Amino acid sequence: PPSNPPVLMNTKDIRASYLDYFKGVGHRIIPSSPLIPVNDPSLLFTVAGMVQFKDALLGQEELDYTRAASCQRCMRAGGKHNDLENVGFTARHLTFFEMLGNFSFGDYFKEEAITWAWEYSHQILEFDKARLWVTVHPSDDEARKIWVDKIGLPADKVVSHEDNFWAMGETGPCGPCSELFYDQGSHIAGGPPGSADEEGDRYLEFWNLVFPQFDRSKDGQLSPLAQPGVDTGMGLERVAALKQQVNSNYEIDVFKPIFRRIAEIAKSKDLAKVVNHPSYRVIADHIRSSAFLIADGILPAREGRGYVLRRIIRRAVRHGYKMNLASPFFGQLAEPLIESLSTTYPELEASSSQIKRALQTEENQFSETLRSGMKLLDRALKGVTDGVLPGDVVFKLADTYGFPVDLTEDICRERSVQIDSATYQELMESQRQQSRANEQFKERELTIAIAGEKTEFEGYTQLTDEATVIAVFRQTDDELIEVDSLTEQHNGVLLLDRTGFYGEAGGQIGDEGVIGDQRNQFDVANTTINNNQILHHGRISFGSIQKGQLVSYRVDAKRRQDTARNHSATHLLHAALKTVLGDHVQQRGSLVAPDRLRFDFSHDNPLTVAEIERIDGMVNEEISLNSPVTTELMAFDEAIEAGAVALFGEKYGDRVRVLSMGDGFSVELCGGTHVTHTGEIGIFRVVSHSGIAAGIRRIEAVTGRQANAWINQNEHLLSEVCNSLQTNREDVLARVASLLEENATLTQALASQTAQSATDRAIELLGSAETLGPLKLVRGVVEGAPDMMMSVYDDVKSQLNSGVVVLGVVHNKRVNLVCGVTEDLVDRIRANDLIKHISPLVGARGGGRPDMARAGGGSDPTSLESALAASKTWVETQVKVDL
Ligand code: SER
Repeated sequence: PPSNPPVLMNTKDIRASYLDYFKGVGHRIIPSSPLIPVNDPSLLFTVAGMVQFKDALLGQEELDYTRAASCQRCMRAGGKHNDLENVGFTARHLTFFEMLGNFSFGDYFKEEAITWAWEYSHQILEFDKARLWVTVHPSDDEARKIWVDKIGLPADKVVSHEDNFWAMGETGPCGPCSELFYDQGSHIAGGPPGSADEEGDRYLEFWNLVFPQFDRSKDGQLSPLAQPGVDTGMGLERVAALKQQVNSNYEIDVFKPIFRRIAEIAKSKDLAKVVNHPSYRVIADHIRSSAFLIADGILPAREGRGYVLRRIIRRAVRHGYKMNLASPFFGQLAEPLIESLSTTYPELEASSSQIKRALQTEENQFSETLRSGMKLLDRALKGVTDGVLPGDVVFKLADTYGFPVDLTEDICRERSVQIDSATYQELMESQRQQSRANEQFKERELTIAIAGEKTEFEGYTQLTDEATVIAVFRQTDDELIEVDSLTEQHNGVLLLDRTGFYGEAGGQIGDEGVIGDQRNQFDVANTTINNNQILHHGRISFGSIQKGQLVSYRVDAKRRQDTARNHSATHLLHAALKTVLGDHVQQRGSLVAPDRLRFDFSHDNPLTVAEIERIDGMVNEEISLNSPVTTELMAFDEAIEAGAVALFGEKYGDRVRVLSMGDGFSVELCGGTHVTHTGEIGIFRVVSHSGIAAGIRRIEAVTGRQANAWINQNEHLLSEVCNSLQTNREDVLARVASLLEENATLTQALASQTAQSATDRAIELLGSAETLGPLKLVRGVVEGAPDMMMSVYDDVKSQLNSGVVVLGVVHNKRVNLVCGVTEDLVDRIRANDLIKHISPLVGARGGGRPDMARAGGGSDPTSLESALAASKTWVETQVKVDL
């Protein structure tokens, strides 16, 4: 049989080698975009590397490069691409995974894409050609020809398959594709693609080359693209499993720290058993997806993306419950995850406390629900007289309380009660159909609109007034229900006939404040808008509020003014960006909060310091002119005629509000609340700028009080830096430069010293080599870090004609070992056998190839000497057996 890939590669090396390879053939390396598609409300999550390049693939956006490669974090849970139900039960499904991809926007096409995929697979990944199979779309003769004629693959290994057509979502780029498969060997069940048992895991699909040729519209029509492109996606975890010679994604390096922690929590010593249990696999997968979703700004919620996150967390907690893990456990898993992936995704580390908090809160809340479910079940079981638990109870437990049926079954079994599964299945099926209909992704609208009512918004001019309560809603666990009154400590929503509260819209977040009278008060925590009705969300702090009651409202004026500063500054920033960078700048997203503003816009290149300074200067100049901010209502066409900026993709009514600042400096359509004169903004400061997706950049800025605080902080930071470097502002840069230089010199000196001492130690060890029959055994302890051990190893190995090397090092209280065998002996003595023999002696686990094997993480440094001694005995035995 053809050989397995000879060299083990960790995930990090695979990632790097892929990007390096494609950089080498002219691709621009683009960072991963967030899991939430930046500019595509039609898509629930980023399902593939191509999502951030969608517009470029469709030819609707010109980037200043035509070849890109990336390592994209992806999520497939919910919507068209949904792997959620399979997770934990197959070796290859994950809700969160990383996808390596290369892309062409009207540049190269099938021939290059196929050639490079082939070359990377067998030259860099060292996959044996004999193990590779591919599929093509039956209509795609071009791809088939390339595989057979150019690459030289036997025709029977190029399988035509109807399924080879890939689409991003309901709409967007799509086209025929060609997939690469790796035959893992007959020890795994499954047949080649196209055969009856292709669903088995033996032939693992690891790379999909898509040739987008169409744009799919909402009604399913395919229209050909002016210039076809390339979109490939290689599953990083799958390739890692192949390169690490393990049977499932869950056994690869990046999952190890997570499973180790799970085993600790489960108090299990049998790590392999933990890794192979479906419940623990679900938990290990779900911690990755939930942590990344939270890092990308999603929190558990009742609808939309937040709802998917909630389901994922609850699913994990449920499996934990089933396995008797002490609650709360889920948040604890964030730590090993962050440790293992934060160098690739610094955003994980940055949101670490938020991730832990959100997971813990959700788990606690859900545990509460599980507990009440237990009560319900107990009560129901007491009522059982015929030995059968009714199906509707089982359904309610599953549906409302999130009880897995097998959990209910377990408990029933203990009490010798059966469950009415026919009724349960029926109820489940109708619920499934219902939720399939609901799952069609759209932000579910709050269904609490009261027909015909409309709130009059007075907030442009007034922040306090009297109003009448027209509807009251109470918040229960999962929904809002209309009630006559709300009393103390109740959460809910109020609808008034008029209000000064601004409902979140156009990026400006909602107002806070109070509604009530002297004896009754509702604290407004947020305000939203829904079909002309402004909804005040909050809580009664004292008294009660009735439907029909006359109340006064008061918007938090200070907060509103902070928000207004940021909103007006956003308009100035938008205008300045167009002036400085060019008219191609389009708003792609905006957040206006009291403490900051965030503005996403189309532009390819990172902004230079000079550009930022010009933009900053221009906005502050407009502020200092203190020009009036004016608004005017006019017909939409008239406004556009007059040069007002309208947002692409936004719906406007016939009459629009046009907001102007400065002498024609900024004219935009806008319904938000603003300052009356630009001078009120006070000061504007850009605090960060970054790229968030292909062709989209983000600026974050502060104004007024926040800008002052930011400046003070920087002042403070600079003083601290000067203090610790014992210098003053004038000299601080020179001081840093000289420190860096000194550091470089020292590092170099240290490196050559290390190399020297490695060489010295190698000579020493070679000098004391033992002769065992025909061969030499070199063994010993090295001082320093594992790197040092490897240098010594390389030196020894290169000078050893025929023999075995065994070295050990203790670093941070952990033992690392390396064994090597010279080429002439590998048939008789295998380094991987030797390492398996000695590593348990120091509490380590190791593996590798016949010529070289390593072990790490050994917990018992005191046994290092005896492990080295054991290697001698073992080699002696081998030699004897041999002679
Ligand atoms: N978009 C394709 C996929 O997800 C290739 O990247 O399979």
